[in-house]
Amino acid sequence: MKIVKVHSPATVANLVCGFDILGMALNDPFDAMKIKLLDDPRVIIHNKDEYNLPTEAEKNVAGVVLLSIIEKMNNTIGFEIEIEKHIKPGSGIGSSAASAAGAAVAANNLLGNIFSNDELVQFAMNGEKLASGVKHADNIAPCILGGICLIRSIHPLDIIPIPSPDLFVTVVHPQIEVRTSDARQILRQQILLKDAIRQWGNIAGLVTGFLKNDFDLIGRSLEDVIIEPVRSILIPGFDEVKTSCKEAGALGGGISGSGPSVFMLSKDESTARSVESVMKDVYNKTGIDYNTYVTTINKRGVEIIE
Ligand code: HSE
Repeated sequence: MKIVKVHSPATVANLVCGFDILGMALNDPFDAMKIKLLDDPRVIIHNKDEYNLPTEAEKNVAGVVLLSIIEKMNNTIGFEIEIEKHIKPGSGIGSSAASAAGAAVAANNLLGNIFSNDELVQFAMNGEKLASGVKHADNIAPCILGGICLIRSIHPLDIIPIPSPDLFVTVVHPQIEVRTSDARQILRQQILLKDAIRQWGNIAGLVTGFLKNDFDLIGRSLEDVIIEPVRSILIPGFDEVKTSCKEAGALGGGISGSGPSVFMLSKDESTARSVESVMKDVYNKTGIDYNTYVTTINKRGVEIIE
């Protein structure tokens, strides 16, 4: 019986100004999964980590994705999956997307790659719906495709991969819980035209910066006048970490996805390491436990290991 093993990467959604429409995959951390086909329509889940996630398929992010694939296959098959999460749920670096996208890509490989990337994104968004109450693809798309993606629309799905510059990414994950559903609920439903103008200027600037490899433009465009002012209150130390990372040479950064992780982009590894030590200094003072990662942009997406 064929077993497919995949690595499914962490992702940074929003990329500061692009709420729900921009995302980027990271080389570290990633989840590992093993999956095999069953000949009856059910999903068996084995969790090989410390997170005690549900094993009932309907309540598990990977499980609902696999159920939607089984339904699409007219209930002719099933899956048994082993999930080893290294991306902590609720971290803001795409833990649920890694489960959902990894399961979709692995299942597709078992089935002979019959589904397109867009179809895989559609399947995987069922996992995001379970995790956060809404379908969004800004973690899922880069997780599957790698690199940086623009999600111009999800109805209909229109994903545009954007060339990724060779930047370094530093992430700090303060160990507090911010649920995506809560972080979405506190957002204002109306925005001022002047804020919208500033925000779409930044989005266009950021995308142009990626296309032209213009690091200064990327840095200037990493500004969010709509979401960050509201959400940053949920993240202790946010303003200080952001200011000090920029002083340490980061191009810029902000909340990763819905938080609590904060990410920063840097031109080179030594700056990314200085940024990491600044992040550690800030969180050592707060007394909040944290993890840090210094990594690069993952250009492959979910990877079939064997
Ligand atoms: N775009 C989503 C949000 C990402 O910010 O709510 C959640 O990971």
